[in-house]
Amino acid sequence: MAPIDVKKICCIGAGYVGGPTCAVIALKCPHITVTIVDLNQSRIDAWNSDDFSLPIYEPGLVDVVKQARGRNLFFSTDVDKAILEADLIFVSVNTPTKKSGVGAGFAADLNYVELATRRIAAVATSNKIVVEKSTVPCRTAESMRTILESNSHGGARFDILSNPEFLAEGTAIKDLLSPDRVLIGSLQTGEGLDACQALANVYANWVPKERILTVGLWSSELSKLAANAMLAQRISSINALSAICEATGANIDEVSHAVGFDSRIGPKFLRASVGFGGSCFQKDILNLVYLSESLHLPEVAAYWRQVVDMNEYQKSRFSKTVVDTLFKTITGKHIAVLGFAFKADTGDTRESAAITLIRDFLSERAYVTIYDPKVEESQIWQDLSEACPNTPLETIKKYVTIVHNVIEACKDKEAVVIATEWKEFLEIDWQTVYDHMTKPAFVFDGRLLIDADKLRKIGFKVKVIGRGDSTQ
Ligand code: UDX
Ligand code: ADP
Repeated sequence: MAPIDVKKICCIGAGYVGGPTCAVIALKCPHITVTIVDLNQSRIDAWNSDDFSLPIYEPGLVDVVKQARGRNLFFSTDVDKAILEADLIFVSVNTPTKKSGVGAGFAADLNYVELATRRIAAVATSNKIVVEKSTVPCRTAESMRTILESNSHGGARFDILSNPEFLAEGTAIKDLLSPDRVLIGSLQTGEGLDACQALANVYANWVPKERILTVGLWSSELSKLAANAMLAQRISSINALSAICEATGANIDEVSHAVGFDSRIGPKFLRASVGFGGSCFQKDILNLVYLSESLHLPEVAAYWRQVVDMNEYQKSRFSKTVVDTLFKTITGKHIAVLGFAFKADTGDTRESAAITLIRDFLSERAYVTIYDPKVEESQIWQDLSEACPNTPLETIKKYVTIVHNVIEACKDKEAVVIATEWKEFLEIDWQTVYDHMTKPAFVFDGRLLIDADKLRKIGFKVKVIGRGDSTQ
């Protein structure tokens, strides 16, 4: 059988992955009708909004949606209709870490994947290529295949592919338009390879052929976990070294620069920080840990576990530096936190280091004022409520204030903590900030963003990740 010519695509899940990915597919493949569906009505309404106030912030995304929406890109809550009509279905639903039951705290919660897969099986009346897009543990495709085959009706055949997404938030559109690689995993059977080719042909509309890698299903699934684990490992490595720098007077910027100059190592992902966040790194490593343990490979599990442990250590080390520097107590003190998103150029807060820092400050009964250019207030309250499950939101609100600019955030505060590397923080008028702060005025830079010497000349007391006092 020759590979089918994909004419209609359905994407189940209109989130950070499914939304941008399928919007770009629609943009680059005007001959394919792409329908992105979600059960969440307000999310779909936002995707369809007249003023393009989309549910996620991603540079360049509005332009893509403006060009394709209504032409060959549609957003809908009618999941069944989109399944019924599609030749190829991306499953791009959320796969959070399980909160309870077997593997709690480690394994991925595959409930959403399973529900979406069962829906496909219940609705489909013709052959479908089903593509696993969400990050999932190895062998999830196998489970999806079993569910689909045991529930198929009307002679519908399902071919399963794994096509993990490597986009990073904040640069999603750029990453999608010009990916380092597209990875497609399939069963190595005739049908599997045909399905793989059908999806490869979709990407070939804009991705050079040599960047479209085709592998076995399990290799594809594992590669996604491996890529994220190795990226996170680099950050934990540099963060571990930042602790040594602080203790010895070396400068972590200089160390990463020198190390990254080795062409075998390379300069990317060597930026020390207050800790990595985001929906993927921690989740995927914990998945890998769980997988290793399930395979009776405890040494392998312990190895990867340490990458997450080091990240936790980095966050708590930073909180401790704040407390220690503010004369060993922050009770009743006022701290401004600049940035709440897990990185710049996104409104996403999942696993953001800012949440952990603020939780730590609140546990010391400090007053915290937050400013982030993109994160919604309701999201901040939700995150802080989840981070402090034993504290009623009303109590949290007595200690936390959310404001709308840097000067307002820093006014009458003892300390400023930089938690996210937003570009606008590079432009802060520190003299004005200083003039409005309580003295002595402290700045804690968790993102290597400020010019420490300049701030010291103004009068600030400054602490920067990865710089010991003797290098300051
Ligand atoms: C990551 C992967 O990069 C992407 O390929 C995958 O598809 C999803 O997970 P994302 O989480 O969106 O993407 O952002 P990324 O740029 O990787 O940053 C993750 C976290 O690491 C952020 O908190 C970021 O601030 C931090 N980081 C990144 C550092 O602390 N130092 C660095 O050098 C790089
Ligand atoms: P990601 O970052 O992986 O894209 P998100 O949480 O941003 O994750 O998005 C996943 C989306 O999938 C959510 O909007 C959620 O409502 C949607 N979703 C989950 N299960 C289903 C389902 N069975 N059918 C349709 N949409 C679903």
